[in-house]
Amino acid sequence: MNPSPLLHTMLLFFFFFLFSSTHSSHLTHNHKATISLSFPLSSLPLSTNITSKIFTTSLSSTTSNNYNFKSSFKYSMALIVSLPIGTPPQIQQMVLDTGSQLSWIQCHNKVPKKQHAPTPSFDPSLSSTFSPLPCTHPVCKPLIPDFTLPTSCDQNRLCHYSYFYADGTYAEGNLVREKFTFSRSVITPPLILGCATESTDPRGILGMNLGRLSFTSQAKVNKFSYCVPARRTRPGPVPTGSFYLGNNPNSLGFKYVQMLTFSQSQRMPNLDPLAYTVALTGIRIQGKKLNISQSVFRPDSGGSGQTMVDSGSEFTYLVDEAYNKVKEEVVRIVGPRMKRDYVYGNVADMCFDRGDVIEIERLIGGMVFEFEKGVEILVPKERVLADVGGGVHCVGIGNSDKLGAASNIIGNFHQQNMWVEFDVANRRVGFGRADCSRLTK
Ligand SMILES: *[C@@H]1O[C@H](CO)[C@@H](O)[C@H](O)[C@H]1NC(C)=O
Ligand SMILES: *[C@@H]1O[C@H](CO)[C@@H](O)[C@H](O)[C@H]1NC(C)=O
Repeated sequence: MNPSPLLHTMLLFFFFFLFSSTHSSHLTHNHKATISLSFPLSSLPLSTNITSKIFTTSLSSTTSNNYNFKSSFKYSMALIVSLPIGTPPQIQQMVLDTGSQLSWIQCHNKVPKKQHAPTPSFDPSLSSTFSPLPCTHPVCKPLIPDFTLPTSCDQNRLCHYSYFYADGTYAEGNLVREKFTFSRSVITPPLILGCATESTDPRGILGMNLGRLSFTSQAKVNKFSYCVPARRTRPGPVPTGSFYLGNNPNSLGFKYVQMLTFSQSQRMPNLDPLAYTVALTGIRIQGKKLNISQSVFRPDSGGSGQTMVDSGSEFTYLVDEAYNKVKEEVVRIVGPRMKRDYVYGNVADMCFDRGDVIEIERLIGGMVFEFEKGVEILVPKERVLADVGGGVHCVGIGNSDKLGAASNIIGNFHQQNMWVEFDVANRRVGFGRADCSRLTK
C-alpha cells in the first residue's frame, strides 16, 4: 500500500510540492499552489514538565480556570519537528502540539545546564524578516476572549508576555512577527509568535489548534498530518516519523471521522472549542465492547466530556466513568497481577512489574478505540503498556478527573504507527495504518 521506501526518503529529505489549479495556499508566494511539505518527526522524552505546560496552555484557552494540571511526569514523550524560521532560515526544534494555540520559539541561550540545547536558540539579529509586535497591536490586549496570554507593555513599547505554569516553571518574552521560510518560493507571511527571552525549556512549541493565532490558522494550512514512530523498547537510534504540512501522498488510504465543531459564542465552561474534537463511540478490550454510554465521550451542557486528538499529550485520558469501565475490565483480566496502591503521575493506576509484561500483554490482548462508520484506532497488544521507568509498565491511559481535565484526550501514545491527518478545510480527522519508522529507511 505504501509507496517505496526510496520515495519516502526523497520526500523526507527534500521539500516536495504538488501543484494543483483547484486550490490556493497562503503558505506560498506562488499562488494556486497546493502545498505538500514534509519533515522528519521524532518522539522524544522531555526531561522537563513540558507535558504539563501544554495541558495548562491548552486548558487555559477555555474561559474557566477550574481546571489546572496538577501532576507531572518524569518521562514524557513529545513529538518534535525542526522547522526553518526567519530569513535566512534558522532551524528550530519545536514540540508539535495540536492542543494549543500560540507558537513559541526560544530567543535566548540560557538553557539549563543539565539539558543540552537541542539546537541553538533563535537569534533575531540574524533575520531580516523579524519584527517585534508593538503594544498598539490588537493582540496585545490582556483579555481578548480566545487568547488568554497575559501581556503588558514594556518600557520599549513592545508587547511583553509572561507565563507561569502550574509546576512553578515559567516563560517570558515578547510577541513578535516572523516568517517560516520553507524554501525560496514557499514562505509564510509574518506570523505572530512568542519569542522567549527567559524560559525553563529548551524547545519551542508549534501551536496547531483551531484558534486564530495558531500556526495552522495564521499560515492558512488547510491540512496537516503526522506519523508517530513506534517507541523503541531497547537502546538504539531514535526512530524517525514524518510530519506533513498540506497534502499527504499517502492519504488515499485514510479513513475519516467528522470533527465536532463549536461556535466561539457557545461558551461552555469546560469545553475547549479550539481543540480537534471527534466523536469516540466506544472502547473494546480483547474484542469485548465495554459498556460505556456514548454520551460520556461527548460534551455535556457544561462542555465536559469532549474527546480531542492531542499530539501534545503523551497518555490518553478518559473521564471517570469511562476510565472506571476500562479499569474494571483490566482488573477482571489481570487484577491479581496489578501493582497495589501504585499510581503513576497521580493519574494512571493500572500498572505492572517488568517481569509480568509479556504475560500481561498476552492476557489483555489488543485495545480498540471506536469512532463512527467503523473507523477505529487499533492498539496492538504490545503497545497497550507504556514503560514509565523504574521497571514499571502501565496501561497508557490516565483518569482525566485526576488530571484536573474535563475532557477525553487521545494522546500520542495511542497514535503510534499510524497517520493522523487534521483536515481543517473539510473539518475531519483521518487515520491510516502505517509503519512510521520504516518510512524513512
Ligand atoms: C516537575 O514538576 C514537579 C512538581 O510539579 C517538580 O517538583 C519538579 O521539579 C519539576 N521538574 C522539572 C524538571 O522542572
Ligand atoms: C451498563 O451500564 C449501565 C450503567 O453503567 C448499567 O445500568 C447496565 O446494567 C449495564 N449493562 C450491562 C449489560 O452490564
